[in-house]
Amino acid sequence: MNTVSETRPHHLDDVDSLRSFVRREKSRGSRIGFVPTMGNLHEGHLQLIRRAQELSDRVIVSIFVNPLQFGPQEDLDKYPRTLEADLDKLRQVGADAVYTPTTDTMYPEGMESHTKVEVPGLSDMLCGAHRPGHFVGVATVVLKLFNQVQPDIAVFGEKDYQQLCIIRKMVRDLQLPIRIEGVPTQRDEDGLALSSRNQYLSVQERQLAPELYRTLCRVRQQVDAGSAPLSSIEQEAADHLNSIGFSVDYLTVRRQADLSNPSPRDRELVVLAAARLGSTRLIDNLPWCR
Ligand code: PAF
Repeated sequence: MNTVSETRPHHLDDVDSLRSFVRREKSRGSRIGFVPTMGNLHEGHLQLIRRAQELSDRVIVSIFVNPLQFGPQEDLDKYPRTLEADLDKLRQVGADAVYTPTTDTMYPEGMESHTKVEVPGLSDMLCGAHRPGHFVGVATVVLKLFNQVQPDIAVFGEKDYQQLCIIRKMVRDLQLPIRIEGVPTQRDEDGLALSSRNQYLSVQERQLAPELYRTLCRVRQQVDAGSAPLSSIEQEAADHLNSIGFSVDYLTVRRQADLSNPSPRDRELVVLAAARLGSTRLIDNLPWCR
């Protein structure tokens, strides 16, 4: 028996059709789950959708490659756009609706003059320090999508750990009535975190790439063993990655709650790293309790 629905997902490509879908579902008492994406869906995204399905009655997935979060030298033009394959996967996983706004729908008067959302502090460190303006672009589009979709629950991957912290803070600060759910990072068998950008890696780079995660695991062990000061553990790990062909932007252990530097009393830690392999920038992290 073919269990894949022929009619789902509803394809909504403007705000009016999205709003009437949401209004109809809410009037039936449905809780709306929302998974924002930039498309090129992989197993990591499908896990977010499955989690949203567990927590809500109807799941809407958005696909929008948001130009506001890309810097001028970044990969906006070559970012993979694979709508037909994405729709197939959404059909298979049983998403209820897919929302695919255009750049004109999101930024009808252009990006320059568009109202921006800034979560200060958290947005300026780590990836924010290396990608100026990136998190303003993320927070702005996520708040706008939240206003359009009006979900009860929104699901994000822990792979983008800093992004998740920023969205949680924005939701707290602006008192949005939305539950934010984080889902652990999905990995290939060799440990490489799933990411749309992995397909940019050459064969040799792909072989090297899992060493990023292995290094984070070693950092966790060394921090737990208390074998050296934190700064030496971080430096040694970054030196190792640089020596085998990565170019490390940062590798650091932080508090999970607010990404500040941990004190010896802090138990909930996360080691985060961003490193380039050739022209591909990989990010990864490993949260744990010591
Ligand atoms: O994580 C992503 O794919 C994007 O940053 C998001 C949350 C969809 C906003 O464009």
